[in-house]
Amino acid sequence: MSDLIERSADILATARYAVALTGAGISVESGIPPFRGPGGLWEKIDPMKYAHIDAFLDDPETVWNVLIKNMKTVLDTAQPNPGHIALVDLERLGILKTVITQNVDGLHQMAGNGDVLEFHGNFAWQSCLDCSRRIETALVDLTRIPPRCSCGGILRPDCVFFGEMIPHEALIRSQHVSASCDAMLVIGTSAMVQPAATMPFIAKDNGAVIIEINPEPTPLTSRISDLPLLGDAGSIMPRLVKAIRRRIPPPSQPITPPPMTKHRKAHDTIA
Ligand code: APR
Repeated sequence: MSDLIERSADILATARYAVALTGAGISVESGIPPFRGPGGLWEKIDPMKYAHIDAFLDDPETVWNVLIKNMKTVLDTAQPNPGHIALVDLERLGILKTVITQNVDGLHQMAGNGDVLEFHGNFAWQSCLDCSRRIETALVDLTRIPPRCSCGGILRPDCVFFGEMIPHEALIRSQHVSASCDAMLVIGTSAMVQPAATMPFIAKDNGAVIIEINPEPTPLTSRISDLPLLGDAGSIMPRLVKAIRRRIPPPSQPITPPPMTKHRKAHDTIA
C-alpha cells in the first residue's frame, strides 16, 4: 500500500488539474450507511419501492416514513471525517480543483471545499410539489407526514430520486471537469449508478490518471484504475496528503529586512 500511496502522491503533487468523484463510501466513517454492500440501505429497503420518483408521487407518506425521515435523522448529526478534511487540504494546496459528489449530505461543503458539484442534489433543502417554494430541511415540521408547505403542497427533498434527471448544471460541469483533469481521485463509490459512473471513463479517455480509494474492488478497478488504493478513505486520504506535503517545498519565507541599525539609519537618510 505504501508504494501505491507514494506513486499516487507523485501524480497528485505534479497534477495540473486534479478532481475528485466521491460516493457514499467517503461518508461511512461519518456514520452514514452506504447504499450497497454490507450494511447498505438498499440491502434493507427496495430502492425502486422507496427511492423512485413514481413511488414518491404514488405514496409520499410511505416514502417519507420509510426513507426520508430516517435519512434526516442520520444526516442531522453527521460531521465531516478525515477523508473529507483531506480533500480540503488538497484544495488548499492548490491541487484539487473540483469535487463531484453523488452524496446529498453536504459534508464536503461543511468540511470547507469550495467547488462541489452535487450530482444527486442536496438533502438540506425541501421543495413544494405545488408552488416549488424551497424550505430548509431543518425547518420542516415533521409532526405531519408527508410534511406540507404553507400553500398546502407536499414537500419533497431536493435530492435526485431514481427515474429523475441529474441537475443540468451539475451534469454539464462534471463532464467538463472530468474531460479537463489530468488526475481523478475516485473515492467511495461502487461505480454502479449512471451517469455518475461515466465520469472516470471520460477522465481516462482524456489521459487522466485514475486513483481509486475503496476497501473493495469495483468495476473500475480492473478496467481503468491506474492506482487502486484498497482501504478506507478516512485512513488512506490523510496518508496521501502527508506524502504529497513531503513533495511540495514549504512556502518561501518572506524576506524580512535586518533590524534598523544606527549605521543604516544614517545611510538611509542620506539617500
Ligand atoms: N472508505 C471508502 N470507500 C468505502 C468505505 C470507506 N470507509 N466504506 C465503504 N466504501 C465503499 C464500498 O465498498 C462501496 O464500493 O463505498 C462504496 C459505496 O457504494 P454505494 O453504496 O453503491 O454508494 P454510491 O456509489 O455513492 O451510490 C451511487 O446510488 O443509490 C444511489 O443515489 C444513490 O448516490 C447514490 C448512488
